Amino acid sequence: MTPVQLAPSILSADFAALGEAIGMAERGGADIIHVDVMDGHFVPNITVGPPVVRSLAKVATRPLDVHLMIERPEQHVAAFVEAGAAMVSVHVEVSPHLHRTLHYVRSLGAKAGAVLNPSTPISTLEEVAGDVDYVLVMSVNPGFGGQAFIPSSLDKIRRLRALLDRAGNQAPIEVDGGVDTTNVAALVEAGARILVAGHAIFGQADPVAAARALAAAARAAESALTGR
Ligand code: DX5
Ligand code: ZN
Repeated sequence: MTPVQLAPSILSADFAALGEAIGMAERGGADIIHVDVMDGHFVPNITVGPPVVRSLAKVATRPLDVHLMIERPEQHVAAFVEAGAAMVSVHVEVSPHLHRTLHYVRSLGAKAGAVLNPSTPISTLEEVAGDVDYVLVMSVNPGFGGQAFIPSSLDKIRRLRALLDRAGNQAPIEVDGGVDTTNVAALVEAGARILVAGHAIFGQADPVAAARALAAAARAAESALTGR
């Protein structure tokens, strides 16, 4: 079984102190740093681009996971990989040539992820189930941190795990939106292996302690599953 990994999202951190935010995430047990890129078109919000990722890559000691919430993601993938992204995910809703884009990301040396909005069915991945290095299931509508977890995401993760397994792909499922200590166990049990959390870490008075609490909850859920 793929081990559960914690991926703090710096979206809810102080953007004037992103280096410190990464330090806190790493001290809190982050395995991956999740970076949300928004363009004001695909989603209503605007965040950061490749220059910021390049600076983050200089301070992070964990892989950068760049979640592209932008139109025409394929036009920007190379710039993000060059800037230091180890993982790049694109939304299926804006990727008519998803197969080509996934293989393009891989050809640049990064892990390729496909992202599903809450309203996008897992069937959109049927034909590329063997071409993904991970799948990101949005458990909120993308655009903002601090939104409430959509409970039907649990069943979606379960069905997606089955779809990937049928394709013989052990690619991990990442979940993003409203993840906190109250739903971590259910998410791990459903099959999520990369847990993104923004508000539950950086919206707390002590982000390091909050990240540690999430990592501990994830580890406990994992032990309950494996019996170890
Ligand atoms: C939302 C972003 C998320 C966001 C999650 O559009 O993709 O990564 O930071 O934040 P929380 O954990 O606060 O829901
Ligand atoms: Zn995200």
